[in-house]
This record gives sequence, structure tokens and C-alpha cells, in this order.
Amino acid sequence: MIIAVDGPAGSGKGTISEYLAMKFDLLYLDTGLLYRALAKTVIRENVDPKNFQAVTNIAHTLTFQDVQDPNLRGEDIAAVASQIAVIAEARKVMDEFQRDFCRSVKLPYKGAILDGRDIGTVICPEATCKLFITARPEIRNQRRMLETQGTDGASPEALSEIARKMVERDNRDSTRQIAPLTAAPDAFIIDTSGLTIEQACTKAAEYVTQYCVA
Ligand code: C5P
Repeated sequence: MIIAVDGPAGSGKGTISEYLAMKFDLLYLDTGLLYRALAKTVIRENVDPKNFQAVTNIAHTLTFQDVQDPNLRGEDIAAVASQIAVIAEARKVMDEFQRDFCRSVKLPYKGAILDGRDIGTVICPEATCKLFITARPEIRNQRRMLETQGTDGASPEALSEIARKMVERDNRDSTRQIAPLTAAPDAFIIDTSGLTIEQACTKAAEYVTQYCVA
């Protein structure tokens, strides 16, 4: 079983995916971390995010260990991740990484769950089950600010800068030519704006139980 989960930043897709991974014994990949790991190396090596060739060359060197780096969460890295996520050649490398991940599933896991922006549309169009998680912009903003307080500093200026960057990133992700953030036509849409974490997870799990578990 493959579950594809897509949605914008702060929608709750990561929390829901982790919950579903535990509940249904699935191997989980947060694909945003792939783009963040690439961005971190691009920043460290002082590469211009618009230098398609250099960014793609770095993409080829990414390993699973890079994705497990605990320091990938800040909005600064995310901003660069979203700039390099428009590069078609780099995306092809990332696509292969994600498909390899799906192929690597072995018992005791019963399948894989991936969350990102283009999982249901590009990476796993044949997924057993597709979810699109969303929430109103002001709610997503609030959640992301709470989440990033620890990593990016908590001054009001820093928080409003985080909010600004997130809006910019969402716009870029939704309007880019290649693999834009969009719900697959067959995705089940959950708006988490008025839901608690528990309610959102339960709703997603009920859908998976009803439509995806044989
Ligand atoms: O999910 P997260 O917010 O960590 O993703 C960081 C950035 O990586 C996104 O804003 C997006 O530009 C890019 N991304 C992508 N495709 C994915 C996952 C993330 O383009 N499947």
C-alpha cells in the first residue's frame, strides 16, 4: 500500500502522515526534507540557487543520511528549498530518490507513506490512497510561527518575517510550472482549520481504513 499526502506548509500533513505511518505500519518519508537537505548543501557551498547545473550536481550526491539531519526545519532553509524546487533536472533526481524509497519497503512494513507537494500527482500517481491536507492561510501561518519559534528566534520581527517567507514560498510552490502544489483529482481533501490534531488524524485514518486497507 502506498499513501500519497500533499498540502501546503503548516497544513498538518506531516503530523497526519506520521500518525498514519504508525497506525498502518508504513515506512514514512517527509519529502520536504529532501529539498531542505539539498538547500542546506547549496547554502553551505555558496552555490547560486539559480545555477541549475550546480544544484543538480549536488542533488546527485544526496543520501538518506542527509535527509535525517535534525537541523533542516527553519524557514530560511525552506525558502531556498522552494527556489531550487523549480529546477526540472534537480527534481528528476529527487523523483528517483523517492521512487527508490517506495521500492525499498520490506516487511514488517506494509507499505509506504510519502508527504510533499507532488506525491499524488507526479511521484505516486498510482498510490492506493491520496490525501490533500489544507488549512486557511492565517491558521497555517500561526502554526508555523509557533513551530519555528525555537529555530528562528522569537522576536515579533522575526515572526513576521517567517510569515512573509511562508506566503512567498506557498505562492512559488503553487504557481511553478513543474509539479506545482495541487490536489490530485482523486485525492480526499481534509481542511484542518477547525480541527484538533486528534480530529484531523482520526478523519484521515477513517478514510484510509475505508478506502485503502484491503
Ligand atoms: O514540506 P516542506 O515545507 O518541508 O518543503 C520545503 C519545500 O520543498 C517546499 O516549500 C517545496 O518548495 C519543496 N518541496 C517540493 N516537493 C515536495 C516536497 C517539498 O517541491 N514533494
